[in-house]
Amino acid sequence: MKTLKFSNNHKMPAFGLGTWKSAEGEVYNAVKTAIKNGYRHIDCAAAYGNEAEVGKALKEVINEGVVTREELWITSKLWSNMHAKSDVIEAINKTLTDLQLDYLDLYLIHWPIAQKKEVPFVSKVEDFIPLKELPNELTWEGMEEAVAKGLTKHIGVSNFGPKALKQLMASANIKPAMNQIECHPYFQQNDMLAFCKSHGIHVTAYAPLGSGDRAAKFKAEDEPVLLKDPVILNIAKAKNASAGQILISWALHRGTSVIPKSVNPKRIVENFEAQAVELSQTDMDEIAALDKNYRFLTGEHWVYEGSSYTLESIWA
Ligand SMILES: NC(=O)c1ccc[n+]([C@@H]2O[C@H](COP(=O)([O-])OP(=O)(O)OC[C@H]3O[C@@H](n4cnc5c(N)ncnc54)[C@H](OP(=O)(O)O)[C@@H]3O)[C@@H](O)[C@H]2O)c1
Repeated sequence: MKTLKFSNNHKMPAFGLGTWKSAEGEVYNAVKTAIKNGYRHIDCAAAYGNEAEVGKALKEVINEGVVTREELWITSKLWSNMHAKSDVIEAINKTLTDLQLDYLDLYLIHWPIAQKKEVPFVSKVEDFIPLKELPNELTWEGMEEAVAKGLTKHIGVSNFGPKALKQLMASANIKPAMNQIECHPYFQQNDMLAFCKSHGIHVTAYAPLGSGDRAAKFKAEDEPVLLKDPVILNIAKAKNASAGQILISWALHRGTSVIPKSVNPKRIVENFEAQAVELSQTDMDEIAALDKNYRFLTGEHWVYEGSSYTLESIWA
């Protein structure tokens, strides 16, 4: 199992299970199946609304002796309505209660966007708090406090562009250890990967399979289907592997962490086995040529007329 090494020598399994959109009644089985089949890294978030069910599965696999807490790597994320410095500890404590854990391995600021505490999901411009009023740097102070209190071993960010990362690093006492971002052959993020590497920040690739189960409101009508790309399918055929396995293996070959989501037992096992799929330099070159700078998660759901958050400001 490939690992990413953190500054204090902790090792994060590069391959993990995504849990966004994993529905009630499904995510419990998915997490148990995954861990029983060798997964040691689970990617969670308060905003996914399913951490209590993930927690039930974690508690059971630990109690059953399948795995110890120390063998697992659990990531979660701070939602945008808890960005006030004084709210971060409340948010991580709620996540820890739901996950039935004493500590997280990694806690991320989910988006560089702040919204009012009483609003779980924004629906109008008044629901936001402009970054001028509540900058990420203040939220980060709360994240650092979570480390000091032993509630998480590491902290990082998600969906941050270089500008927001640089601003954060200028005042941070603890450097962000991770940026979790969309990354797949249609959106390879080479500049972002180079930027993160130069600052010692690891990258986790989300939506590695194209995030095909997103709700229609998050989807373009004519979006390309990564899992049906002829180049990916050809490489898969030649290796007697599935398209999904090639996409996962590609992410691992690039030195990123990768967290494909599945609630299907067969695909959960298939995705795990992708770690054994080797890609040649020719395969990597062919996949490199597929880059279209195409985001599946555009961030447009964050944009409201009159708001200081624009696509340019979010991804800058
Ligand atoms: N930080 C962020 O803002 C952010 C944003 C997006 C995602 N994420 C994280 O990244 C994880 C992965 O991204 P994602 O869930 O958007 O999308 P994804 O992993 O790219 O795709 C998930 C879809 O692929 C299907 N699938 C899984 N394995 C497959 C295989 N081997 N062959 C064919 N289809 C397969 C799943 O269906 P079944 O379940 O039926 O197998 C599901 O429909 C999320 O779950 C979440 O943990 C984070």
